[in-house]
Amino acid sequence: MLTIKNLTAGYGGPNILHDVNVTIREGEIVTIIGPNGAGKSTILKSIFGMTKIEHGSIRYFEENLTALPTSEIIERGICFVPQGRSVFPSLTVEENLEMGAFIRKDKKVVRKDLHEVYEKFPKLYERRHQLSKTLSGGEQQMVSLGRALMLQPRLLLLDEPSIGLAPQIVTEVFEKCRQIKAAGTAILMVEQNATLALEYSDRGYVLELGRNRLEGAGKDLLQNKQVGELYLGK
Ligand SMILES: Nc1ncnc2c1ncn2[C@@H]1O[C@H](COP(=O)(O)OP(=O)(O)OP(=O)(O)O)[C@@H](O)[C@H]1O
Ligand SMILES: [Mg+2]
Repeated sequence: MLTIKNLTAGYGGPNILHDVNVTIREGEIVTIIGPNGAGKSTILKSIFGMTKIEHGSIRYFEENLTALPTSEIIERGICFVPQGRSVFPSLTVEENLEMGAFIRKDKKVVRKDLHEVYEKFPKLYERRHQLSKTLSGGEQQMVSLGRALMLQPRLLLLDEPSIGLAPQIVTEVFEKCRQIKAAGTAILMVEQNATLALEYSDRGYVLELGRNRLEGAGKDLLQNKQVGELYLGK
């Protein structure tokens, strides 16, 4: 579905990523782990057309995404939930969800999708008229996920979806990811909570200093001694 090949990119100054390779197949959950500043978020931003690419390619099906502006990348069915709480605080839950579908013309279909998001996240339905800034952290994360689903993405990019959430809520977020995957959307995520993220992932990558360090099936990385020592606190 998506193939990042020898990607070297940054923000105009020195490059942050150096010959990075990542692939995602349809129906997969893939997780990138690594220390702070390794360039994990920069990979997601590169897919979304938000970095300066020096060389390498990002192929999405038959197209090279590096030639497209972000607006067209969204139209291809790629959705990005950035790091940190990314709700519109002064809008209600429902308004936030509707914002997710702003580029879509057929408002009848949008109503149907809204209904489906509410089925996935019953708590958001209960709180649909509540201002988003008054929601708990976990609920806000659900709004971010729900809003991304309003675009019916084929590929969802999630930057640290579990950050700052209580353990029980973290599990809930990953369970939602599993449901999203089951409904046919592939997920590429970045996570600090490496143990749980890898348990839920088909495959994972370890990134260090902007370079690929290790990769493998989620459960193999969980058993990997180096990964255990560096990232899983073993
Ligand atoms: N907009 C930007 N302009 C310039 N440099 C940036 C920008 N965003 C990130 N960087 C730099 O790129 C490097 C990698 O940052 P990135 O956010 O990709 O790391 P990360 O692996 O996601 O880290 P964290 O785990 O802390 O979120 C850092 O040195 C950071 O300072
Ligand atoms: Mg980051």
